[in-house]
Amino acid sequence: MEDLSNFFPDADAFFPRSLPVGLTFDDISLATRYSDILPRDANLAVSLSDSLHLQIPILSSDMDTVTESAMAIRMALNGGLGLIHYNMSDDAQVREVARVKNHIHGFIREPIKVHPDQKIGEVLDRISRKSFSFSTFPVVDENNHLLGLLSGSCVKERYRDRSVREAMTPRSGVYTLPESAIRKNPIETADRFFTEHLGIHKLLIVDDQDRLCGLFTLSDIERIEDEASRIVKPARDGQFRLLCGAAIASHRNPDGSLDADRIVQHVGRLVEEGVDAVAVSTAHGFSRGVGDSVRLLREQFRDLTLIAGNVTSADGVEFLAGAGADCVKVGQGPGSICTTRVVAGVGIPQMTALYVASRAAAKAKVTILADGGITKSGDMVKALTLADGLICGGLLAGCDEAPGRIMEINGKLYKQYRGMGSREAMKEGSAARYGHDKKDATSKAAPEGIEALKESAGPLDGVLRELIGGIQSGMGYLGAPDLAALRKNARYIRVSPAGQKEAAPHDVITVKASTNSASE
Ligand code: XMP
Repeated sequence: MEDLSNFFPDADAFFPRSLPVGLTFDDISLATRYSDILPRDANLAVSLSDSLHLQIPILSSDMDTVTESAMAIRMALNGGLGLIHYNMSDDAQVREVARVKNHIHGFIREPIKVHPDQKIGEVLDRISRKSFSFSTFPVVDENNHLLGLLSGSCVKERYRDRSVREAMTPRSGVYTLPESAIRKNPIETADRFFTEHLGIHKLLIVDDQDRLCGLFTLSDIERIEDEASRIVKPARDGQFRLLCGAAIASHRNPDGSLDADRIVQHVGRLVEEGVDAVAVSTAHGFSRGVGDSVRLLREQFRDLTLIAGNVTSADGVEFLAGAGADCVKVGQGPGSICTTRVVAGVGIPQMTALYVASRAAAKAKVTILADGGITKSGDMVKALTLADGLICGGLLAGCDEAPGRIMEINGKLYKQYRGMGSREAMKEGSAARYGHDKKDATSKAAPEGIEALKESAGPLDGVLRELIGGIQSGMGYLGAPDLAALRKNARYIRVSPAGQKEAAPHDVITVKASTNSASE
């Protein structure tokens, strides 16, 4: 009898054989393999470049109805990465990145300070204007020398007319450590300090001339320690700040040439805020403008992780890798709100696109991201057999952290979700992504995306928990302790329409749909 042990082919045997037909997620299924791992032990960590390390391989898409700072903070707290969209002014995008990078990270380098001659009333007004959730402030002179600490217990209406100088604990009574003492292990050092100093909640850091250069608070340190025991670990940089990415366009001058000054200046500001990855994000990455932008950024920012796309061919991957990209976005037209294939007649079904891109990426030593069309955790597992990471739009657009209001229609809650190539989004700035000018967006340019609604999905934490659980189940079935093993162990089979019907719940009346399956 024929040996059936290799009956299900690996990617190199399977995908070329299916030509000339291109395949997408529902066209295939994965074969199970011998396993000695429990799904919950499957490790989802991935490195997208030498310096960009995530705990889960999921990125939230750079779309104006998906990723601003609230989404990026929550994505990073869950171990992933948010790509802040660019349908906003350059200033606003820099502020969004700063919000993520300054989210609780233990050591606050730029603490909010007050001056001794201010009145408590002014401090109270500032707290209310800026919505600060704290009311204890270091007091400094005009040269940033530490003079004291204004305790929250004195920042009260009844003391409105008193001066900060009268209310502050003087310098001699303020606990400080020199900058040199925290250089090696800032969090551990602060933790030890708080344990040794009963009842002290703030630790100020000063330089050798007693100028204020940072602050730790006990509650931040406790929150960070809490994370260490959590199963899902946040994605943080070397300074313990949350990771954050930002997308940019290949901006052009009126004569069509690349607006190099604007691109370099803006990315320079993002880098100053600590951005961890910049994505040159367009609909057609295998193009001169994107290649030139990536080359320019690689020359100017040697150590910055550069993501670029989108492409669907081996040549496209090679081209962007050659220009200096570390990671390439793959996907043209699979997105849930995309109409590129309908409007332009262009695009490759996503699993076939991922196959060719993955083989070119291995040669060029870059990583790839599967971008678009992912509607359920099973699609994620399939995509991760070829790609290093995933970009999700629609799956996350219904979450509380996505921008936009929740609206109620016939008793159900929804959030807006629109393609960046939709007419409305292009009018607000994303036209460049589709090779159009912003002013063309109202008239000439054919939209390549639609405006839609997603059912409200609640907090991102819950949505990600289900998706991660699904990916780990897939890894368990394939005996894959980590993502590299998932890629190695993957074996494929084509699914017929009857097979697709069999794969979904059938011949029952659904009482409760599962949340990690595509909504019908
Ligand atoms: P999902 O399926 O996750 O897809 O909702 C999100 C991805 O779709 C891409 N995108 C678009 N593609 N027209 C397109 O052809 C559009 O208007 C559009 N907007 C977003 C993008 O790659 C995103 O990550």
